[in-house]
Amino acid sequence: MRALSIFTAAILLIAVSLTPSAAQDDPGVVNVYSARHYGALEAPFVAFTEMTGIEVRVSQGSPRALLERLRAEGEQTPADVFLAIDAGVLSLAAEEGLLQPVESELLTENIDESQRDPDNLWFGLSQRVRTIMYNPEFVDPAELSTYAALADEQWQGRLCMRPATHIYTVSLVSSLIYHLGYDETRDIVSGWVANAPRYINSDTRMIETVAAGGCDVALANHYYLGRLRNEDPEYPVEIFWANQPDSGSGTFYNINGAGVTTAARNVENAVAFIEFLASDEGQSGAPEGFPGSNYEYPTNFAIAPNDVIATFGEFQLDLDYPLWEYGSLQATAVQLLEEAGYGFSEN
Ligand SMILES: [Fe+2]
Repeated sequence: MRALSIFTAAILLIAVSLTPSAAQDDPGVVNVYSARHYGALEAPFVAFTEMTGIEVRVSQGSPRALLERLRAEGEQTPADVFLAIDAGVLSLAAEEGLLQPVESELLTENIDESQRDPDNLWFGLSQRVRTIMYNPEFVDPAELSTYAALADEQWQGRLCMRPATHIYTVSLVSSLIYHLGYDETRDIVSGWVANAPRYINSDTRMIETVAAGGCDVALANHYYLGRLRNEDPEYPVEIFWANQPDSGSGTFYNINGAGVTTAARNVENAVAFIEFLASDEGQSGAPEGFPGSNYEYPTNFAIAPNDVIATFGEFQLDLDYPLWEYGSLQATAVQLLEEAGYGFSEN
């Protein structure tokens, strides 16, 4: 036993003495668990590799599936970075000790305080806003106001919504519970259900259905319209910012955010990767920027968004609901959706 530990120590010594020269030649890798579903080789990741030589290895999955993997793998996880499209899932990972704090001046200076974890366990890198899209042939925007108002019977047979299985629906309903409480939110969701929505499990298909006249109104993430408008500036669906201050506390949004895993083997590379995405270049609205690559809004508020989404105009985000609270109501939201009879699959 003793002989074995001396042997192990000798191996470790060799490994340690080899590391510095090896590191000079090989900047190494960063392993990323990414819940983004826009292709593994995203332009900003390629730009990061070009600048640093660090290879980005991406493993994709849904936010909740990746969280499950991190939990199950524990210390053994190959992931250095957890990149999620939902602040709720990031907060849960942080609470469960799966992420480690990162002290970085660049990150705290570039990213607005409202867009990152107070203990520096994760950092928002771009914003996605879930709001109302409508067909201007059939809807006067003066008829629109809040998510809650879509429960009004005037919307009978006119709505497209994403099934309850999707995190986009769960997180939006969590925000309603946060502001209005369980009972009022259940009444609102029951009102949506009474309006017999068409459940479509794709934001793009929902918007296309609105364009084709199959629904008058949909709830969708803004960047899907950004993509369609990029291809066709005349795309016949309009965006309406729900819950503006005259009727609510701002439009609901979520973030793409990232944290370094507690078990990360490549901590320096992981920090460099997140710092790059938070840098002026990484935050750009151009296609090589992280927000720009997917028509999202920067979390560095000093940087202008992509030209296509700049045409969507100014609006107020719901900053009253802190991102780090998003995780705590998700389970309740799923229960509420079930209780209200909201669809869990397409119809
Ligand atoms: Fe998406």
